[in-house]
Amino acid sequence: MHYLTKIASPEILTTQCLILGVFDGKQHGSSIDRLPATPKKHIQATLKKGDLGGKAAQSLLLYGVPGLKAERVLLMDLGEQKSFDAKKLASAMGDAIALLNKNAVRDCALMVPEESADMLYATGRDIAISSEEQLYLFDQCKSKKNRPKKPLGKLTLVVKERKQLNTLKKALKHGTAIAAGMNLAKDLANLPGNICTPSYLADTAKRLGRKSTKLKATALTEKQMQRLGMGALLSVSRGSREPAKLIVLEYSGGKENSRPVVLVGKGLTFDAGGISIKPSAGMDEMKYDMCGGASVFGTLQACVDLDLPINVIGIVPSSENLPDGEANKPGDIVTSMAGLTIEILNTDAEGRLILCDALTYAERFRPAAVIDIATLTGACVVALGHHTTGLLGNDDKLADELLKAGDDIHDPAWRLPMNDDYRKQLDSNFADMANIGGKGAGTITAACFLGEFTKKYKWAHLDIAGTAWKGGHEKGATGRPVPLLTQLLLKRCKLAE
Ligand code: BES
Ligand code: MN
Ligand code: ZN
Repeated sequence: MHYLTKIASPEILTTQCLILGVFDGKQHGSSIDRLPATPKKHIQATLKKGDLGGKAAQSLLLYGVPGLKAERVLLMDLGEQKSFDAKKLASAMGDAIALLNKNAVRDCALMVPEESADMLYATGRDIAISSEEQLYLFDQCKSKKNRPKKPLGKLTLVVKERKQLNTLKKALKHGTAIAAGMNLAKDLANLPGNICTPSYLADTAKRLGRKSTKLKATALTEKQMQRLGMGALLSVSRGSREPAKLIVLEYSGGKENSRPVVLVGKGLTFDAGGISIKPSAGMDEMKYDMCGGASVFGTLQACVDLDLPINVIGIVPSSENLPDGEANKPGDIVTSMAGLTIEILNTDAEGRLILCDALTYAERFRPAAVIDIATLTGACVVALGHHTTGLLGNDDKLADELLKAGDDIHDPAWRLPMNDDYRKQLDSNFADMANIGGKGAGTITAACFLGEFTKKYKWAHLDIAGTAWKGGHEKGATGRPVPLLTQLLLKRCKLAE
């Protein structure tokens, strides 16, 4: 959708739909108070009927409001005035956009409530993100597309003062880039495992690389990984006929000698569990086991779109995890690139095996910080559900930075503890360590495993097993944590305001 900004009074706006916010289903707020007497009276009379803000109507669509050039008026309930914030407005706007998109409305305009004046950046950004969220459609694999006949294509945000325009324009630019990154992540994640293979991801990275001279994409082959000694990663791939890839995206937006932020995303394109095979109910969801990698792609695309002045490296180890005569067997011992030997007690704990070699590979970029993103443990879904990402790591400052960035952009994370008591759960009788930590604290022991490979730099781990896709009936990827990661980078560039 196109987003425009404008200074105008509401009565002269020629639009197919003028959107006005109402508090508590009845209080006008600024945008209605600014209307001339005739339309104001009409709207006041409508509000008196009390339909808005009730259980049935979060919005009311009016036709033929006198004294306005707009063809329609959408009254949108914003809830209580005292708890009003950017997120509430964006969420109401998302619903409004979804409604208008299904109607025959092609363009609309929002009178941005004056109550948003001191949070205009967040307002613009969040409106763009939630609008794109509502317009997102995944029908690549349907032979008959069921798209709106007259889709909504234009939203104008109307403000009062000239000085507000620049902030709003910047916010919309950031919001749309983040939303586009989320959409890329969602598309890759929603594609099935037979289409979105490690090679498909590598090709996608190369296509991304052609978007900008600042972005370089390469993919290591199994042979190259062999030479590097990536025995843990390759052991997972041995049970699959699709060749593994180690995808590397290098975004050089910053000074040549400035150390990069390295993002490492789990790109397991289908996780059947291997010989420790998963139960079949719901196994289709394991096509989403590459969401960490997809979020790295989405975030790097946002870096390009926003031309961020920072260096960022994306590393996506990509493989399938399937049962096969050559697959890992429980009890097998493999040697990682770091030299540590690993006893594979459960072949379904494969994410950490592909990540540990990618984390060792990350060392060569002299990282300022390394953040890995992975749908790593079912235990994280038990602990935090589908709302909050699990955060662990070896650096308090980096962890706080991530928590703050997540809160800023409504993509929250929550930190879990990590210490030697948990790490001891990984002790093995036959190798340097086991790949599982036994009963209890599955998310933490998984992070402890990765922690053995991240001692040389500042590191954080995001377990997105619960947040990367929607559970229950409402299937589909969420595009998280692209907002959190992009917000972190924007803040490092001092641009997020
Ligand atoms: N990809 C899964 C984690 C997962 C499970 C994500 C459910 C989302 C929903 C991972 O590879 C896995 O299988 N983890 C095991 C680890 C266990 C064997 C220690 C798990 O969580 O059950
Ligand atoms: Mn698994
Ligand atoms: Zn997995």
